[in-house]
Amino acid sequence: MSQIIDKINQIRQDNPQNLMARYFSAEYFNGLNEADQARLLGIFASGIENPDSSMGAYAQAPEDYDKFSTALDPLIRDFHGIADGIEIAQKHDWPNAETANCNLAEIDPKLKDVSMRVRVARNASTYPLPGAMSKDQRISFENEAVAAFEKLIEDEAFGGQYLSITPGSKYEISSAEYDKRVAAHQMFKDMSSDRFLNVAGISADWPYGRGMYVSRDQDFLVWVGEEDHLRIMSMMSGGDLGALFGRLHAGLKKLTGLLPPFATSPVYGNVTSCPTNLGAGMRASLHMKLPNLTKGGTDLSVVTAAAKDLGLAVRGAGGEHSAAGSDGLVDVSPSARLGVTEREIMQRLFDGAKALWALEVKA
Ligand code: ARG
Repeated sequence: MSQIIDKINQIRQDNPQNLMARYFSAEYFNGLNEADQARLLGIFASGIENPDSSMGAYAQAPEDYDKFSTALDPLIRDFHGIADGIEIAQKHDWPNAETANCNLAEIDPKLKDVSMRVRVARNASTYPLPGAMSKDQRISFENEAVAAFEKLIEDEAFGGQYLSITPGSKYEISSAEYDKRVAAHQMFKDMSSDRFLNVAGISADWPYGRGMYVSRDQDFLVWVGEEDHLRIMSMMSGGDLGALFGRLHAGLKKLTGLLPPFATSPVYGNVTSCPTNLGAGMRASLHMKLPNLTKGGTDLSVVTAAAKDLGLAVRGAGGEHSAAGSDGLVDVSPSARLGVTEREIMQRLFDGAKALWALEVKA
């Protein structure tokens, strides 16, 4: 055990961004019984094996957040910007988000063409989190989701199709179709080559139990079996953030009634694999072209620093850990998801886009 502690202490020195290592307390760890020590190391494994992690932890069961709150709360507070002394708590205000007047075209008519997306992460309370699921559980959860989709398919507004990548599924698609959907930024990438998810057990049994629902007009999508049991999302262009959020909320309400109950907590809101996604569980983002700020997509440092001050994170448009496109296409999204409401997340995205756009135009 002392070897592991030495390793984590070394990571703390070499990789100051790794929140798992930054807040690891050997004293707390040594005070746990053996079984709980093993459990906590399971949660921290990805951050130990991948020192370049920024969070470095994935819960394996919904109860982990309560049971190991002493160890996890500091990481959670740091990431979501919740100061010590302020209670960790999640409130929701969906209706305010739907009626809010946040139209990107008001910033600049050019921005009406940006691709907008908003997703929420949800996990069923009746299964372990994805890192600890057996292959049978992955398949059985997908079947429960399919039963819900078979009802949703008949819905006028949300009808569409389910595409599975589970070998032998009655909805199985070809690998060419899968590649096409990944290229269209609809389907999630092959997780089996993600070293962060591999160590956490989240990508195990790939591609069993994985798939995606997509509405006829391609603006409402549900991922099954990625980092969380479900990622429910809406994608649109047109600049109207209120419409985007409204579409997601309506679909989420429909689907919620058809699925097993979700894991939620009064403290942590929606329970997710990664502590970064707790709370609203919501990631709202814009794919904006910022060629000047990114020097033609070659350098994300300026835009990343500017975005950070606005409470936003920047990724390449190819998803997490990807680079910017040559046209300067980047993905910007508010970082905090816990302790902020749906409406506040939308406002942060709108205000942040406005500020970044002003810098882009000037640059
Ligand atoms: N585990 C990775 C890290 O700590 C990713 C964390 C945030 N992203 C995510 N998809 N959960 O850097």
